[in-house]
Amino acid sequence: MNQPVNPSVIKVVPPDYVKNTQLIHWVQEIATLTQPDHIHWCDGSQKEYDELCELLVKAGSLKRLNPAKRKNSFLAWSDPQDVARVEDRTFICSKHKDDAGPTNNWVDPDEMRRTLTPLFTGCMRGRTLYVVPFSMGPIGSPIAHIGVELSDSPYVAINMRIMTRMGKAVIDLLGKDGEFVHCIHSVGKPLLPGEKDVAWPNNPSKYIVHYPESREIWSFGSGYGGNALLGKKCFALRIASTMGRDQGWLAEHMLILGVTSPAGKKFHIAAAFPSACGKTNFSMMIPPKGFDGWKVTTIGDDIAWIKPRKDPVSGKTRLFAINPESGYFGVAPGTNRATNANCIDSLNQDVLFTNVALTDDGDVWWEGLTDTPPAHLIDWQGKDWTPEDGKSGRAAAHPNARFTMAAMNNPAVDPNWDNPEGVPIDAFVFGGRRSNTVPLVTEARDWVEGVYMAATMGSETTAAITGKVGVVRRDPFAMIAFAGYNMSDYFQHWLSMGKKLANEGAILPKIYLVNWFRKDANGKFVWPGFGENMRVLSWILDRVAGKSNATETPIGNCPSYQDLNWDGLNLNTEQFEDVISINSDDWRAELEMHNELFEKLANRLPQELLETRKKLQERLGL
Ligand code: GTP
Ligand code: SPV
Ligand code: MN
Repeated sequence: MNQPVNPSVIKVVPPDYVKNTQLIHWVQEIATLTQPDHIHWCDGSQKEYDELCELLVKAGSLKRLNPAKRKNSFLAWSDPQDVARVEDRTFICSKHKDDAGPTNNWVDPDEMRRTLTPLFTGCMRGRTLYVVPFSMGPIGSPIAHIGVELSDSPYVAINMRIMTRMGKAVIDLLGKDGEFVHCIHSVGKPLLPGEKDVAWPNNPSKYIVHYPESREIWSFGSGYGGNALLGKKCFALRIASTMGRDQGWLAEHMLILGVTSPAGKKFHIAAAFPSACGKTNFSMMIPPKGFDGWKVTTIGDDIAWIKPRKDPVSGKTRLFAINPESGYFGVAPGTNRATNANCIDSLNQDVLFTNVALTDDGDVWWEGLTDTPPAHLIDWQGKDWTPEDGKSGRAAAHPNARFTMAAMNNPAVDPNWDNPEGVPIDAFVFGGRRSNTVPLVTEARDWVEGVYMAATMGSETTAAITGKVGVVRRDPFAMIAFAGYNMSDYFQHWLSMGKKLANEGAILPKIYLVNWFRKDANGKFVWPGFGENMRVLSWILDRVAGKSNATETPIGNCPSYQDLNWDGLNLNTEQFEDVISINSDDWRAELEMHNELFEKLANRLPQELLETRKKLQERLGL
């Protein structure tokens, strides 16, 4: 390998307030390897954010939107080959292959380092290395953890300022010898002297690499979302899940919401749906007609860190959850006033949009924002677009187009969203995107059955990942791409946590499986979804409170028509049947798919799950 030699490798001179020797040495080590022209220590200030945005505008990477329409907001268009997470380029490099397990791409860590070293050598030439210190969770919270991302992308730096608590306060907390997760990111496009940069630098060769034992992340070649904002999936899910396994807590791909009844009783729900399957929508839901006085508030929209602790109110151990993030990186297409009014109201100022379309008056548009598209747009690839193009199937916004916004700008943000103690969870909800088979809602009879439901969950793939869209794949706990260790061990961790907590007399959340996505013979969604999901949520809350009825079915407890509140919605008994029914042929095929997953995971699969499957099969008479 022909390694470029830079005679003028930069000498790291940190600002006075940086005292952490490990951090200083590490920045020097990475700067020596990657050879950036400059180093910028992010302080997290508004001034710095504004300057970086301005720099990106000058470079042609961001467009400032019309301030009369969207104050202090910007639009980025990515390279068409860098639009989503790249699961086939994501690696868990644990020492032993079995610790990554059959659902993760594994490469021996020494071999991976030998592959990455030449790629990272000189990879930041002509660029600035941004030192981005961040806290996942409220700064100083006992549930929070710190990371530092070294990135050559100013777009990453500004996104991290919204998505995490970022800047000097984190350095102060680190002190002289505080520990942090080491995150290294490069777009993988060094510049030759005088070479003009492109708007969205990236590299066709991409590596998203995790070393769980040394808690390191090395990401190369992509500037997009979870590939590049390393606090999110890489740290808060893949690395944190291994920390949770070792330390007795959970890091989950879950939204967290609060829901308050008209009588003022408050519940908290954590819900895991696969990518682009409705977490953001559910977490910001506005209760529909028929639910006067109910209020839903958002704690988090994507990730939950959950730790057991004694509840001062009940005196019993409960599971408390925090949102480790401080912003939402949400899916734009399909978002409108009818589906998510709170979200629309959050997007008026201080937003970074990526891969949506630009209107002639300097605003943004995406499929589903309005019924009638504007007469002319510039699409996410910078090309002219008219509604005729839409009719011929060319979308103006990429299906995985996203917005980055601060949690504080959500009008429905929960007063406790930032509470370092977290909120106590009353129920876990799991849900995939399934056109058939899986009923609207099913309650697990006990913890083990709930773990089985979550473990065997399937979902049709979405544009949030590169590859084929719409094929059913197993997505256990919505964590198929995010568990940083062996999925069988992950199931065992859930089972063991449940058993241990039950033995301690803890109050365990009830577990539910939902499906908003059943379709009729014409391929249309039968369930209206969005705010109407409140009808299911309120049934769940009543079950938690021991108030509502359910009917036992072979797969769990389901509501009958009369068990839900239909006030304000016309959905007849036949339509309800269409979304709640259990079809034997469908379930025969479904159990077969559970089997395939279990065979794949056989090596360390907990026996209890096999037993649960056997009982399920018997009850179904299959
Ligand atoms: P990630 O951020 O990728 O983890 O996903 P998310 O789960 O937060 O996804 P989000 O809430 O942004 O999902 C967006 C997609 O789900 C859009 O296509 C929505 O139209 C669709 N969606 C959300 N809720 C519902 C619902 O209740 N019914 C139907 N049919 N579609 C829904
Ligand atoms: C997901 O894909 O689940 C996301 C978006 O939340 S990203 O941050 O790109 O992973
Ligand atoms: Mn997600």
